[in-house]
Formats: sequence, C-alpha cells, structure tokens
Amino acid sequence: MAHMLKAQRAVAGSRIIGLGHYQPARVLTNDELASMVDTSDEWIRTRTGIIERHIAADGEGVGEMATEAARAAIADAGLDVDGVGMIIVASTSVMDHSPNMAGRVAAALGMTNNPVIIDINTACSGFEHGVAVADAAIRAGQVERVVVIGSEKLSQITDWTDRTTCVLCADGAGAFVLEATDDPGVGPVVWGSEPTMSRAVIVEEESGNKFTQDGRMILRWAMSKASEISRSAVEAAGLTMDDVQVFVPHQANLRIIEPLAEQLGLTDRTVVTDVQVSGNTSAASIPLGLSKWWHEGRIPSNAPTLLFGFGGGFAYASQVVLTPNRKP
Ligand code: ACO
Repeated sequence: MAHMLKAQRAVAGSRIIGLGHYQPARVLTNDELASMVDTSDEWIRTRTGIIERHIAADGEGVGEMATEAARAAIADAGLDVDGVGMIIVASTSVMDHSPNMAGRVAAALGMTNNPVIIDINTACSGFEHGVAVADAAIRAGQVERVVVIGSEKLSQITDWTDRTTCVLCADGAGAFVLEATDDPGVGPVVWGSEPTMSRAVIVEEESGNKFTQDGRMILRWAMSKASEISRSAVEAAGLTMDDVQVFVPHQANLRIIEPLAEQLGLTDRTVVTDVQVSGNTSAASIPLGLSKWWHEGRIPSNAPTLLFGFGGGFAYASQVVLTPNRKP
C-alpha cells in the first residue's frame, strides 16, 4: 500500500523584521597596508574602491561577531533570543567544526528553546543561500522565525604578505531576522554554480588555508553573467527593474558594483557601496552593508531590495527582499 505522509501546513512566505550587524573596532587603512606590502593608497582605491577596512582582534572570532550581529538583529525585531527557532550561519572562514557555528551562537546567546542550528558554506553567496533556506523552511511551516547570519574573519585566512589579496580582505558580521507572514517579503531565489570555475577562489590545505583567487576570471564572470542572474531574480519576484529601489550586490569591489549597477539601469537608485569603508567581508558583506545603511536611515521602509551574492564555489544566489517597516 502506498503511504502518504502528513505535511506541515504551508504558509504564504516570510519577511524581514530585524536587521543587525557588528564590526570590529580596529580600522586598517590603505597607508598602513602600504607599510606592510608593496602597494599604495592610490592603487587600492582605483582598483578596488576600498579606503579602509575593519580587522578583528585576537579572541574576536567568527562566532563572537556572529553572536553580536544576531543579538542586534533579534533586538531590532523586538524579540528576546528564544523568539527565534532556527539559526543559520553563513561563513567561509570557520576554523573549528564542532559544535558548528550556529550551535556556538545559540550557546553564546543563552537560548533555551532548542533551536535548529545550520551552517552554510557557499563563500561570498552564503548569506543569500541562507535566506533562501530560511524562507523555504518558514514557507513549509517548519519554523516561525529564523535568524540568518553572515560572519567572517577573513583576516585569519589572509596571506598578509600577498599584496594581490591582502588589500581586499576584512572582518565583520550582519544578520536578518525572518518571520512567517501572509504578506511575503522574500522573493524566490535564483541560485546555482559554475563548476568550470570551481578553482577561481581557493582556501585549502595546499594554499596553507589562505585565500587565493583568479581576480581577472571573477571580474570577467561578474561583468558577463551577473546582470542576467539579477534580472531573473527580479522577474521571479513578479517585479520589473523599475520597481527595485535598493541594490545590494556582494561587496567584492567597486569595480564590479558600479558597472553592474549601470548594466542593470540602477544607478539612480540606492546602491550600497559599503565596501569602501568595510572591504570585502565575503558572506557578511550583504547583510553588513544593508544593516549599516538601514540603521543610518539611508534605506526606506518596505523597499524592494535586490540582493546578489557570488564567489567561491563558484556559487551565486540572488533574490529580492522587502526592507522592514521602520519603527517610529
Ligand atoms: N598594489 C600594487 N600593485 C598590485 C597589487 C597591489 N595591492 N596587487 C596586484 N598588483 C599588481 C600586479 O602584481 C600586477 O603587476 P604586473 O603588471 O607588474 O604583473 C598589476 O598590479 C595588475 O595586477 P592584476 O591582478 O592584473 O590587477 P587587476 O587590475 O586585475 O586588479 C583585482 C586586481 C582588484 C583583484 C581585480 O582583478 C578584481 O577586481 N577582481 C575581481 C575579483 C574580486 O573582487 N575578488 C574579491 C574576492 S573573491 C569574491 O569576493 C567573489
């Protein structure tokens, strides 16, 4: 006899109800980098747009930063920590594997409600993968609220003698709280990977667990493929480019962000360019940039916001989200 299993009652969707972020206090300037390797403020600014970046202290790890960003997002949502039933942490710079990073965050937050704990490693697009997984779990009726965190301590996987990479990398964390709703504020994800480019970004034993990349290959891919993926995400959400008010691409570098905004016809909208003062923080860059600009009052309420993450894997993920209702 064929069996049919009972499924949870599906809900219409999810939306963002809280945003939070954390950056280490220490700021590393281009001039300081120029005293460490053969580079200059001028080279870094013109090739990457980066002016300065934040670097974590000893003892300030992926977990500590993730916890602070989650705490801020949960408080922003007006909840206490047991108000969320699932923690998803996206990171590519995790050095300790068990407990996983989400479990470390649950313990550090002192949660007592047996939350689901999931880690995701799809590098610079990990956060958008996390939002998609959280949204799917909420839609399936498996959980009511999820905190999705991107947290990176890239400084610990950076070769500080390699001028081609050390000028890009930085540390920080950002988080969203998503909640079940009848009025969806997270659009369908457009996601995938390019297996032929799997070695474009590498952190592995053979590279001494340090980050190496084919910068030219990534730049070429972004300029030829990113706009099509982003357009598909806007279409999947039932919108047109005219509806998009905010664009938050992965903060890899300004030489990708600006031309991409131009290709998409979004230069007259709010384009988040936090990379200039935060560097590249991989999975953290999109929630960090959006949360900072949101709390600075630079992003309107209920604004259709296009997220586009890409990087190591070589993986990508893009979706449209609505910003929260701003509390008075
Ligand atoms: N300071 C001074 N000179 C440098 C530096 C530096 N920090 N780094 C490289 N150079 C030199 C190179 O040695 C080379 O010198 P040469 O011509 O004598 O050989 C010259 O500058 C040009 O080097 P390229 O690597 O060709 O520089 P390019 O113009 O491609 O810029 C960059 C490098 C910024 C990484 C570019 O390729 C890029 O924007 N790539 C996109 C990828 C990216 O942003 N990756 C981020 C991490 S992965 C991710 O987040 C998805």
